[in-house]
Amino acid sequence: YGNYDFIVVSNRLPVDRVADDDDGEGWRRSPGGLVTALAPVMSSSDGAWVGWHGAPDENVEPFEHEDTFLVPVPLSEEEVEFYYEGFSNATLWPLYHDVIAPPEFHRTWWDSYQAVNRRFAEATAGIAAQGATVWVQDYQLQLVPRLLRQMRPDLLIGFFNHIPFPPVEIFAQLPWRRQVVEGLLGADLVGFQRASDTGNFLRAVRRFTGNNTRQQHVELREDGVRRECRADTFPISIDVARIDELARRPDVLERSRQIRDEVGNRKILLGVDRLDYTKGIGHRIKAYGELLDDGKLQVEDAVLIQVASPSRERVESYRLLRDEIEAAVGRINGTFDTMGSTAVRYLHHSYPTEEMVALYLAADVMLVTALRDGMNLVAKEYVAARTGADGALVLSEFTGASDHLRQAVLVNPHDIDGLKERILQAIAMPKAEAGRRMRAMRRQVLQNDVEHWSQTFLRALRSERG
Ligand code: G6P
Repeated sequence: YGNYDFIVVSNRLPVDRVADDDDGEGWRRSPGGLVTALAPVMSSSDGAWVGWHGAPDENVEPFEHEDTFLVPVPLSEEEVEFYYEGFSNATLWPLYHDVIAPPEFHRTWWDSYQAVNRRFAEATAGIAAQGATVWVQDYQLQLVPRLLRQMRPDLLIGFFNHIPFPPVEIFAQLPWRRQVVEGLLGADLVGFQRASDTGNFLRAVRRFTGNNTRQQHVELREDGVRRECRADTFPISIDVARIDELARRPDVLERSRQIRDEVGNRKILLGVDRLDYTKGIGHRIKAYGELLDDGKLQVEDAVLIQVASPSRERVESYRLLRDEIEAAVGRINGTFDTMGSTAVRYLHHSYPTEEMVALYLAADVMLVTALRDGMNLVAKEYVAARTGADGALVLSEFTGASDHLRQAVLVNPHDIDGLKERILQAIAMPKAEAGRRMRAMRRQVLQNDVEHWSQTFLRALRSERG
């Protein structure tokens, strides 16, 4: 057995490679709530993190970083193509997001997914102390719980799915649906974002495995031994303290004023997304373009700032999406721009959190129009950044966040006329009403940060060891 009594397993390690001062390479903690949420647990116990380091065909030795032992799992160039870009992001991702893009089913991809999941399980089994707690993250690693249990029945295993779990009628398309469900059932506790995801999973268990469920528990019998796997809902959140701190920092406030100055005296509508077809970026741009076309908005009075951070650029559906979005932006700008004003400021970059918070502070209206999203943390970050309890949030009802942010201007993004009305409503919202809504949303977000999420999950997991 190894020495580590708390291990997180995720496709990516929580660090990015950076050039350091003496021309060498170092690692920097990647932005994102998960790392922050788990940092206290990591340092209070003997914590380790197992994940891919992001470079194909390269072996990196395990190393210590900020109180955590990081164990890089190597992927070959072919595995990046078959396991990561293929099965994870061209099969499971679209299948789990309402088949917005058609999922592709290839047996070679599935073989690679199995092989890589086994490698992650082996790396974990090799370092876990007797009776350790292991927390596996997300759809790239759904087979790990079962594989790990076979290798190390002594471990306490949790799994959390950050993306939706699809309705059984859609999940049924997957040729390996039974194996995926059985992979997850290797965990003691399987967590989902929304109650509907938990329900979908339990229906899939009943439909595709022979197991009975009793409320949220699945009764299992392995080699004559009875065991239970529990499924439950644990909505994820953000690092509220970090956003709040940035939103009050003088340099960030100054930067946000600078952004406002640069776009002139106009209402700022803001979209912030990975460039992904689940995010409804095209719907948002269409609605905005029509408002300009109808004369309901003038380019002198409003601007749409759309940050679209590059993502999964070698996957075809992502390349097509980029062409589509950039053509739409070009058409609108060509039609409505004047020498002094651009209708859509489109930024195909990723930015540090400081810049994102400056943008949140500068924006009058935040547009989150995802067609399907497990949670959507941008919506929560916007709310956390609005320390003055002003600003309006237009939020798709197809996000997990809409379960909690009920005072947002909720919208069905497929309904373009409805979306246009909601955008106008948000722009024209009286100050008092905006304040009422934002204060209620801030209460929700401030009371439920990501540390609360991880503690709730881990407490539930530990209570499974009866
Ligand atoms: C989503 C997934 C994560 C993933 C992230 C970025 O949030 O739930 O598991 O890490 O997108 O995608 P990437 O493919 O770059 O890891």
